[in-house]
Amino acid sequence: MPVHLVDQYHDAACRINPALLENRALLLLDLLQCREQVFSLVLVDDSAMAEYNHRYRKKNTPTNVLSFPARDGDEQFPGQGAELGDVLISVDTAKVEARRENKSIHHRLTELIIHGLLHLLGYDHERSEQEALAMWDREQELFRQLRHKTNSSIERRTMPHLAINVDHVATVRQARGITEPDPVLAAGICELAGAEGIVVHLREDRRHIQDRDVLLLRQTVKTKLNLEMGAAKEIINIALDLKPDMITLVPEKRKELTTEGGLDIIAGEKKLAKTIQKMSKAGIPVSIFIDPDAAQIEAAVDVGATFVELHTGRYCDATSEKERDLEFRLIEQSAELAFESGLRVNAGHGLDYLTTGRIAALPTIEELSIGHAVISRAVLVGLDQAVREMLAIVRRPFPGQ
Ligand code: PXP
Repeated sequence: MPVHLVDQYHDAACRINPALLENRALLLLDLLQCREQVFSLVLVDDSAMAEYNHRYRKKNTPTNVLSFPARDGDEQFPGQGAELGDVLISVDTAKVEARRENKSIHHRLTELIIHGLLHLLGYDHERSEQEALAMWDREQELFRQLRHKTNSSIERRTMPHLAINVDHVATVRQARGITEPDPVLAAGICELAGAEGIVVHLREDRRHIQDRDVLLLRQTVKTKLNLEMGAAKEIINIALDLKPDMITLVPEKRKELTTEGGLDIIAGEKKLAKTIQKMSKAGIPVSIFIDPDAAQIEAAVDVGATFVELHTGRYCDATSEKERDLEFRLIEQSAELAFESGLRVNAGHGLDYLTTGRIAALPTIEELSIGHAVISRAVLVGLDQAVREMLAIVRRPFPGQ
């Protein structure tokens, strides 16, 4: 392996994804045409970095990155190409810088890897202003090229799936307190129209979907049943008995009309990790509904989620094109980070016949979970047609499939 990643940073509260950094370092070696060379990437904390900085540069403070180019006669990794040297990065300092610059920790660490690698290759911003400018330009260019490379290496293997949330069929039924309309029947119609999954949220207050619904859906859904739920003991036990094809953990508040924000994984990490362990033992994959936020994605990896579902609500609710573009970029970048971190990525909430197309075209997104827009349209044109119209939008980038 041309990159030797040595992780000496041991802070349980910090979510670093070594595989992601290693992958980016490899792509950088490619971009620098150093594929045949090797280097070590060492992650340390501030106190270790302060020692190195004192020993080699006579400075008494930590720093973000130190590079040690290989010298003639340095030991080579057996059977491998020429040794470039070592890049040491203090994750503590990188974290502070990431926060200050409003970047994800992986974004900042990637910038520091680029900086360190360029030093190994002879760039030095301390020699002159001209060299400092040349190094800065190269860093920016490499970061852009790396983004392009990671984007183009993300290829969709299948078209995105459409999963229909039938909660609101049950909402209409509950308004009358009788048996119609039946969300179980609705789920069957959605599947016949081509939906690839059915989603229901069994709320603790049972305001729409009832226990009877999930039991019947488990028996009748032919595609995939995704049970949305809060991490409450009673509902966890129901899910463990029911064994849906997957669950999506969402925050649940009694007073909300619908799920409001994403789940704060960092705040509830222990409880979530325990819930995920229980589900894993029962063979049930877990998705977590989160806001498009780098720290939450990193936390989702840590707690062992298989999927994240990115909250598209702010993108859908945007009141200007500028705001919508900003929210879209956030979803796009978050989906890339999640995908690169090894998570499978779904998206949903608030998507309608106008906002879905752009999200469906993102190559990192596997499945869209859509409820209100489709059920509302179904009241006017029928459920079969409403699902088919949405499917045409979701599949638009894949004509003929
Ligand atoms: N995803 C999650 C996690 C949700 O809670 C909901 C709403 O139940 C949806 C998707 C679907 O949202 P909408 O009904 O706005 O399409």
